[in-house]
Amino acid sequence: MKTEHAPTIRRADYRPLPWTVETVDLHFSLDAEATVVTNRMLCVRNPDVEGGPIRLWGEALERLALTVDGQPPASLREDGTLLEIDARGERVVVEVRTRINPRANTTLSGLYRSNGGFFTQCEAEGFRRITCFPDRPDVMARFTVTLEADRAACPVLLSNGNLVEQGELPGGRHYAKWEDPFPKPSYLFALVAARLVALERRVRTMSGREVLLQVWVEEGNLDRCAHAMDSLVHAMRWDEETFGLELDLDRFMIVAVADFNMGAMENKGLNIFNTKFVLAKPDTATDLDYENIESVVAHEYFHNWTGNRVTCRDWFQLTLKEGLTVFRDQQFSADMLARVASEAAGPEGAASARAVKRIDDVRVLRAAQFPEDAGPMAHPIRPDRYQEINNFYTATVYEKGAEVIRMLHTLLGQEGFRNGMDLYFSYHDGQAVTCDDFVEAMSEANNGFDLDPFMRWYGQAGTPRVKASGAWDAAAGRYTLTLTQDTPPTPGQALKLPLVIPVALGLIGPDGRDRPLRLEGEGQAGATTRVLRLTEAEQTFRFVGLDAEPVPSLLRGFSAPVILELDEDDARLAFRMAHDADPCNRWDAAQRYAERVVLALAADPAGEVAPGFVEAFCILLGDDRLDPAFRAQALALPGEGYLLERMSAADPAALRSALMKAMRTLGRALAASWLAVLETMAPAPVYRYHPGDAGRRALANLALRYLAAAGDERGLACAQVRFEGATNMSERFGALAALVQSASPARGTALAAFHARYRDDALVLDKWFALQAGAWRWDATAAPTLERVRSLLDDPAFSLANPNKVYALLGTFFRANPGEFHAADGSGHAFWAEQVIALDAKNPQVAARMARTLENWRHLTAALQASIRPQLERVLASEGCSPDVAEVIGKALE
Ligand code: ARG
Ligand code: ZN
Repeated sequence: MKTEHAPTIRRADYRPLPWTVETVDLHFSLDAEATVVTNRMLCVRNPDVEGGPIRLWGEALERLALTVDGQPPASLREDGTLLEIDARGERVVVEVRTRINPRANTTLSGLYRSNGGFFTQCEAEGFRRITCFPDRPDVMARFTVTLEADRAACPVLLSNGNLVEQGELPGGRHYAKWEDPFPKPSYLFALVAARLVALERRVRTMSGREVLLQVWVEEGNLDRCAHAMDSLVHAMRWDEETFGLELDLDRFMIVAVADFNMGAMENKGLNIFNTKFVLAKPDTATDLDYENIESVVAHEYFHNWTGNRVTCRDWFQLTLKEGLTVFRDQQFSADMLARVASEAAGPEGAASARAVKRIDDVRVLRAAQFPEDAGPMAHPIRPDRYQEINNFYTATVYEKGAEVIRMLHTLLGQEGFRNGMDLYFSYHDGQAVTCDDFVEAMSEANNGFDLDPFMRWYGQAGTPRVKASGAWDAAAGRYTLTLTQDTPPTPGQALKLPLVIPVALGLIGPDGRDRPLRLEGEGQAGATTRVLRLTEAEQTFRFVGLDAEPVPSLLRGFSAPVILELDEDDARLAFRMAHDADPCNRWDAAQRYAERVVLALAADPAGEVAPGFVEAFCILLGDDRLDPAFRAQALALPGEGYLLERMSAADPAALRSALMKAMRTLGRALAASWLAVLETMAPAPVYRYHPGDAGRRALANLALRYLAAAGDERGLACAQVRFEGATNMSERFGALAALVQSASPARGTALAAFHARYRDDALVLDKWFALQAGAWRWDATAAPTLERVRSLLDDPAFSLANPNKVYALLGTFFRANPGEFHAADGSGHAFWAEQVIALDAKNPQVAARMARTLENWRHLTAALQASIRPQLERVLASEGCSPDVAEVIGKALE
């Protein structure tokens, strides 16, 4: 293990390597404790670089042998993980033999064990934990892989590409040989050797080739693979139809593994997934699980073109593949939802389904990325420096990165964007490139559209603030809108320049209808929504031909990842809640109103929920013409984490009381309406994953939450009935969550019944852990949640070695339960330090993620800061603190 804190790596220091690799032959003799890897590389001199040694990286390896063209190397230097070999000529064969211990590898990076099988994770720098290699994405080699293992323990042997040979070996062992025809960087290498079974399907690609699709799982899970398989087929079709991109292999495999640091990994032809994003059946998976599976399967599949065929030159360019691929999966999910919804509810249903998906994405961005941009880890979507690359798989690189691509799509239009993609692939297929290469292709394919100013989005961190003010000239029928922009300073980046911000806008008349838009100087009024381009620090737009003073609806569809600062009174928010033709903005108006109400309660605990808000809420709730899924979004209060960031000297306890009061008030005041929702949204007899049904379930579950919070007996009884009679997990878990988030004595028995039913189901138990870790104290006499979390650490189903368990129990408590975590006595903070230290000894990546839950500690009250600081220092000073954790805490303390 690395013990010293890592040095900083800078984007500006990128240099190509003097030697790259053309082909690599790997042989694995798999053994739980002593796997021997023989690696034969054909190394070739890079014609673009003058002189220099062969550079290989290796980490946690026992080197058994190393030869150059069959001889011991004449000159070899070693410095930490870097190995340099001087070589003559243009092409040499380097052979390295290493021994590794997969069982001892608790980092889940490199080759590791899970449930008796062997699995790999190589992105970003895990391959160097398997063998010595120029482990950088700009080295693209053709791989041939031979796996050898015990037949009984590991009947299935998989790697990238095509299976070319397999057979028996003495001593109960067998082998398989795989060849990947496409050159790839080492981070896309994968192997799996385990006892698994596959769901298979054969489909034809758009050019008529037949390909084999497989979803590999443990035998008992074969009945939970159909949705992942369907999602894969849908993703393939969508990429053909939308971008003309076809699967390039004869076989495409997805493997599910229970121990996995992240969501999933796009290894060429052999995607490896966290079981959470593969396995689903109605009894164990919620609508949200189904939705996530569809989008993660698509995401990894889409990487085959955006990531694998064209990859990143260096890790600073990560958003090149991640931002673009998240954008693609978001568009795919929106199209899928819209397609299904339009069958049931026509074009309006489709539009609403799209809007609901967009709202979901915006919620994630606001909850995860905005705080990151406002904290000590703030970085541009293309960072300039890092200590540990694994810490930069962030909401900024992924989600804000996707927003940046979305803005390009908005500026260029669907067709222009498609042309840019086509040109990008025609130039760069088979290459490792940069974000500039992508944006240049977009520009060139669109008549040289000047995207230079747009590039600032790649370099500037921080969430821009956009302010709007309007002036109405009744005599002239003219409305003057002034927009300003300003990005606050972030660590290491004091000065910010204006960005190119597409602002989609509509003007709403007093009757609630959109007015056609005409800018001064234009002949005719046109559409009712149009995109203004804000490129300066301040700009003015004059709209003419208006019959009355309009209410502006800005940033429709959330057209840019900015914070819009609006000076709107309650009446105007209520008006937009009722009338804004853009569902995203209608939702946003409700969120703004709710935020105002909740923060006022937090500031004045004796205050009451504003009656105007209750009324506006009631109107939305009772509007049966509105899609239930949309109502469920609009009637949910803003996330607690998001609200905390909106407070100055954030006080989680005050916010918690305010949220409880708001929920109780809305539950009580609107009880009749909530009960009516439960009447009309009765459970469907048979579960199907369908946006219409899912929306009804979501609204019913929300009704249960409000009623349970308010202690409404009818609501609690209904939750009990729904819990006991549920035919699917969405309803069962929704009802259970309502009971747990209440003062009802039924909550303990319901949790126990749930546990008894699913005691052997790891993924469902994750939900059980998370629900308890996230529990608020509705019952003032109940013990602090921390006590429960502590005792759950000892539950036989819990393990610090399994990331899903850690995220469910500790992640939920630290991130999603600030009211309990930040207990005034500091017990939560001490517990945090203890757990981060314990995790760090096993799995630095997961520990660093947990460490990040306190990075915005300076936004909290002085008293909480005083309690947190010594815990941060304690973790940083702990023996063997990993570079991953040290970077996070170091920046938090700076
Ligand atoms: N490329 C993977 C994905 O986005 C994620 C890999 C994350 N790796 C890491 N070390 N955090 O699908
Ligand atoms: Zn990805």
